[in-house]
Amino acid sequence: MPIFRDVLVRLSESGTLRRVATHAPGARTMARRFVAGETVEDGIAAARELNAAGIRVTLDNLGESVGTRDEARAAADTYLAMIRRIVEEKLDANVSLKLTQMGHDIDEAFMRDNVGRVLDLAREHDMFVRLDMESSAYTQRTLDFFRKLWDEGYRNVGIVLQSYLKRTAEDARVANERGARVRLCKGAYVEPPEVAYQEKSRVDENFVGVTRTLLEAGTFPGIATHDPAMIEATKRIAHERGIRKDAFEFQMLYGIRRDLQAELVRDGWGLRVYVPFGDAWYPYLMRRMAERPANLFFIVNAVLRESPLRFLMSNGKR
Ligand code: FDA
Repeated sequence: MPIFRDVLVRLSESGTLRRVATHAPGARTMARRFVAGETVEDGIAAARELNAAGIRVTLDNLGESVGTRDEARAAADTYLAMIRRIVEEKLDANVSLKLTQMGHDIDEAFMRDNVGRVLDLAREHDMFVRLDMESSAYTQRTLDFFRKLWDEGYRNVGIVLQSYLKRTAEDARVANERGARVRLCKGAYVEPPEVAYQEKSRVDENFVGVTRTLLEAGTFPGIATHDPAMIEATKRIAHERGIRKDAFEFQMLYGIRRDLQAELVRDGWGLRVYVPFGDAWYPYLMRRMAERPANLFFIVNAVLRESPLRFLMSNGKR
């Protein structure tokens, strides 16, 4: 299965497939299971519903690796609109963004201006902004950029660390010393053995080790996983160390393991759900399929239900 996963993650980077998939019949239905919709208002509506169920939200305007300044500027503008709407609606929500969406591949100073606009408005409203972590080609650049922001005095910003990376235990210690907020996840990209553990058991072991580091000495960490074993390990560490339920939060993705989400809330654990919206859903969706190939069958089924092929087939049967 890891090979299948690698193929899907690599396909997530294909521009041609992205164009074909985005315009394919049934595409919207297919995305809808994991993506809240296409507009800011769709994201806000999903956030409202989750908040009503006792779940905090981080809102994400889908997009990454943008190639033009106009696209990057427009993405930053959408984040400003999201922040304003979150404030107007008094939602329990913050935002997550990707630096390549803000122009990281175009020019660092330009990207900094875009991110700065988002951080400044968020700070005015006491809102937190998470810098999502992308592939290992960006790890050092993202952490360096984060350190710059921190040194400039921004405190409403945090990072993501991935337990498949061998460097993560050290990065977590540095973040703790600084008092920075970390989201810990396993990691969603295909990485070489030089930098990343390849076996699930090593990734999981590191996840538990880093969770311990973050719970013991971190600042309101986000433990981002749908893996029941990781969730149990986190609860166990919290219990053993007498760490209060409000000292950290679990995080999950929109539409994934809603049963576990409900269970955590029922038991009084803090939970934040990552709510993506927008039309640039293709790479995001491919990574979700790579994590759980069964999602592929779910999606194919959804597409077939809407597609002209099914229409023809059902006509043929009559
Ligand atoms: P794992 O993949 O080992 O799966 C364990 C179990 O969880 C599965 O058996 C299944 O039950 C369930 N599950 C997992 N994924 C599923 C899916 N797609 N559909 C249905 N069930 C699924 N990555 C990254 O590189 N950078 C980032 O910034 C982020 N940000 C982020 C935020 C949040 C809130 C979450 C929850 C995740 C991320 N990720 C991420 C993604 C993360 O790295 C990882 O790829 C996924 O969370 C899947 O890993 P799990 O820990 O869930 O376990």
